[in-house]
Amino acid sequence: MELVRAKDYTDMSRKAANIISAQVILHPDTILGLATGDTPKGTYAQLAEWQKKGDCSFARCSSYNLDEYVGLSDDHPQSYHYFMRKYFFDLVDIDIANTHVPDGAADDPAAACEEYDRMVAAAGYPDLQLLGIGRNGHIGFNEPDDHFARGTHVVDLTESTIEANSRLFDSIDDVPRQAMSMGIQTIMLARRILVLASGADKAQAVHDMVFGLITPKVPASILQLHPNCTVIADEAACSLC
Ligand code: GLP
Repeated sequence: MELVRAKDYTDMSRKAANIISAQVILHPDTILGLATGDTPKGTYAQLAEWQKKGDCSFARCSSYNLDEYVGLSDDHPQSYHYFMRKYFFDLVDIDIANTHVPDGAADDPAAACEEYDRMVAAAGYPDLQLLGIGRNGHIGFNEPDDHFARGTHVVDLTESTIEANSRLFDSIDDVPRQAMSMGIQTIMLARRILVLASGADKAQAVHDMVFGLITPKVPASILQLHPNCTVIADEAACSLC
């Protein structure tokens, strides 16, 4: 695992966008693993700008998102389907038919998770997986636990995640209590992983991910075992490293 120190959010976003654009320039058929949250928004905006200028293209890429809330339809403004269209898919030349996000509105979420996992496996897993990190060290929606989850599964969100994500909802009561998330094994099967972190509230999680014990209590710590994982963190997020 390598740690790249960025000056600030803009610098982190540009560094990440540089790596992703190099990937799609070298390998136009790239399978991208994508993440939501505030952290990757600047990276998506930078990529959209470069794509408009003709510097890179996503026309031949496909994508698989990490997670989605259970119970939100894909047109719900807080759904990750909606987020991805707003901040990336609608801004670049990717074919929307080649983008995939777990179906939070599925009648049987557990079966939908299994189906999603089969689809990601059949595609051959992402060439490059983009990740953010939760304040408690979660990746995707893999919350601290006493074991590492394998495939895509239904997760009960922790109070800390519900509270952290409530800023995007009208009230904390509107935040779904469950989500669907790629498991740790699915994430670890990506050929390259890029983790982004920004801000002082991520400093402890970044420290524990990079230097801490490998433990399911800090799900991101398992990334230390990945053969090609780069963390790009800004000064505030690196302040304990
Ligand atoms: C959510 C998402 C994660 C994301 C994390 C951090 O819980 N499921 O994929 O990495 O929050 O979000 P943010 O980037 O907004 O801090």
